[in-house]
Amino acid sequence: TRVLGIEGTAWNFSAAVFDEDLVCLHSSPYVPPQGGIHPREAAQHHAAVAAEVIGKVLAEAGDDIDGVAFSIGPGLGPSLRTAATAARSLALKYGVPLIGVNHCVAHVEIGRWYTKFTDPIVLYASGANTQVLGFLNGRYRIFGETLDIGLGNALDKFARSHDLPHPGGPIIEEMAKKGSYIPLPYTVKGMDLAFSGLMSAAKEATARGESMEDVCCSFQETAFAMCVEVTERALAHTGKDEVILVGGVGANSRLQEMLRIMCEERGAKFMAPPRVYMGDNGAMIAYTGKVMLEAGSTIPIEESFVNPGYRSDQVEVTWRNDAGE
Ligand code: ATP
Ligand code: FE2
Repeated sequence: TRVLGIEGTAWNFSAAVFDEDLVCLHSSPYVPPQGGIHPREAAQHHAAVAAEVIGKVLAEAGDDIDGVAFSIGPGLGPSLRTAATAARSLALKYGVPLIGVNHCVAHVEIGRWYTKFTDPIVLYASGANTQVLGFLNGRYRIFGETLDIGLGNALDKFARSHDLPHPGGPIIEEMAKKGSYIPLPYTVKGMDLAFSGLMSAAKEATARGESMEDVCCSFQETAFAMCVEVTERALAHTGKDEVILVGGVGANSRLQEMLRIMCEERGAKFMAPPRVYMGDNGAMIAYTGKVMLEAGSTIPIEESFVNPGYRSDQVEVTWRNDAGE
């Protein structure tokens, strides 16, 4: 089965074709001229580049496709609608089924595909989302998640308050390498996390004269330790023995290192997919669309409304069993 996948929930407009493997992938990131991502401007960017990005993918892969998949949510409403409109018209044009893919589940599935881990605990850390997920009784359950903002957004906002360009995550990673640890507030509530207090405390720390390097280092150490704690507890509770890291923040090598150490100590396997599959990308939508299509999970065009608040555990996972096959 060969599926065209379209991703456009937030900053990246990206399309890919997936068959037995990735056939091709093209992306056009939206870079805000200043400040954070403006939903309407991101949607205008997506509309402006959609034909070119999808055209390139189909020119390379050929237009012999069996389905068109798109991110149906969660994400920014205007961006979601732009990608959905493109997907619907292509499904009609080629006379093939439409597949509405949950963006968070797609992050998980491309991670599972790449790592070949069957039944992992997943730390999904991105801009808008930070969740610890695991499969149980037909769904990806959210064992723990942020109660306020996503980890990536916390990093981006802190960076922006110091006039650093968007996205701030990679810049903070570089600065943190030269810093040393100073205490910042650590907030884990049961299995849940919160990052906005940490972000405010980081801003206060630089305001009272702490160095950017030290604050970046401490921000990372604190936030990542919180994520690792909840991931470890999910492993212990479920008895699973694999961990994968997905989402844009997953590109961070310190976060990868901390998870790897925790997993080694517990005798669990740890893996993170390469950067192209970590942040938002069309390949994860094409791949998840393909397994959904093979399981018969398609959506009629007239019911294909986007869902900006779509949660991972609302998806009925028709394409795998408890063992992950
Ligand atoms: P979602 O809709 O799943 O929340 P998203 O739109 O936030 O996704 P992603 O590509 O998954 O998009 O993640 C982007 C985030 O990843 C940004 O907040 C960015 O700062 C962060 N990020 C990217 N690279 C790094 C890094 N090396 N270290 C820390 N954060 C990073
Ligand atoms: Fe994402």
